[in-house]
Amino acid sequence: MTAHDAISIIRAKRDGGELSDEQIDWAIDAFTHGEMADEQMSALAMAIVLRGMNRRETARWTRAMIDSGQRLDFTDLPRPTVDKHSTGGVGDKITLPLAPLVAACGAAVPQLSGRGLGYTGGTLDKLESIPGWRADIAPDRMREILTDPAAGAVVCAAGADLAPADKRLYALRDTTGTVESIPLIASSIMSKKIAEGTAALVLDVKVGSGAFMPTRDEAHALATTMVELGADAGVRTVALLTAMDTPLGRTAGNALEVAEAIEVLAGGGPADVVELTLALAREMVALAGLDVDPARVLADGRAMDHWRTMIRAQGGDPDAPLPTATHTETLPAPASGTLTRLDARAVGIAAWRLGAGRARQGDPVQATAGVRLHATVGDLVTAGQPLLTLHTETPNALPGAREALSDAVTISPRSARGENPRGTVILDRVGRARP
Ligand code: URA
Repeated sequence: MTAHDAISIIRAKRDGGELSDEQIDWAIDAFTHGEMADEQMSALAMAIVLRGMNRRETARWTRAMIDSGQRLDFTDLPRPTVDKHSTGGVGDKITLPLAPLVAACGAAVPQLSGRGLGYTGGTLDKLESIPGWRADIAPDRMREILTDPAAGAVVCAAGADLAPADKRLYALRDTTGTVESIPLIASSIMSKKIAEGTAALVLDVKVGSGAFMPTRDEAHALATTMVELGADAGVRTVALLTAMDTPLGRTAGNALEVAEAIEVLAGGGPADVVELTLALAREMVALAGLDVDPARVLADGRAMDHWRTMIRAQGGDPDAPLPTATHTETLPAPASGTLTRLDARAVGIAAWRLGAGRARQGDPVQATAGVRLHATVGDLVTAGQPLLTLHTETPNALPGAREALSDAVTISPRSARGENPRGTVILDRVGRARP
């Protein structure tokens, strides 16, 4: 094949045409093997952003990206496999209590996860704040941990051979303004999740200022596309649409979020984190065909037992104290009243500037950096009381974080009996009916 093929494919999509299965297979294969240049794939990605792809094209694009690498197979495990993927939000530490909880319910949870880029944190970065914990697990060891009835969940780094076309394409999209496309986002996420070998998948599609998809309609369209891609590939898939206008829980930042996840496993923790953990667990357990109540498994300590085993299995010490920041600064509430807005995106950017996230792939992150919220939406606050505490190893980051938060909160006069205007974080559900 010659570069001429790339040009005709780009032109076809640029002019609003449908790409054939053969054109899609060729483009992904040629890009993976360096025969289609980065600038050509960037042009094709931009044409897709502007012209879209239909269901057939998107399914074929996804399959071609899966076929660019290895597809794991866990069908011989003694337990049903099920995984969760979140489209990313601020303070989203749900995987941490969820994976051991669902494992304790009897499923195997093979989660190949990523490191964070930009202001939404990555699960691996969070877990790496636990002394000794390692993300790099060989496939044989992964299988052993998944088979161990006392563990049953692995959260580890995806190997280089898992959907390599997506890895290259995502890096390119990140620098060419071509991330924001439902077919490209959906195929990127689903190619990795399908290649990971899970039989069932629950998607947490975030909606709001701290999410990829700011509106509910866009989030619904993304969720529908991903659920269809799962069905097309034989992976039972359900999506929940959940609110991401306000950070989840009371912490954003790596070690801070691990501590909060442990509170949830110990039977406490913020109401929204507990609600979302249980809602996703119920969906996962149902898709795995298990008849177990996750709320009981959380309450009786079995989920915590699985957490401890799972952390040890990856070299971590579940009893070691988590690291704490050398510098903190507390910002007071500017007025008295009800906190009616606490902007997720602003808190995410502040945590990122404090050192919790990275600007470029491969940058280090600070385990201890982040933001603790002393109140959340719906709470009554008094002028001068602590509202947010900034944590960092690099005090010169504090002014940038303060600046990010300068318009992050709205405090309204004492209102409506202090009722929580936030309500449930679960906004909608897409996929087959629960049995
Ligand atoms: N996450 C991914 O893995 N891919 C995207 O395109 C967007 C978010």
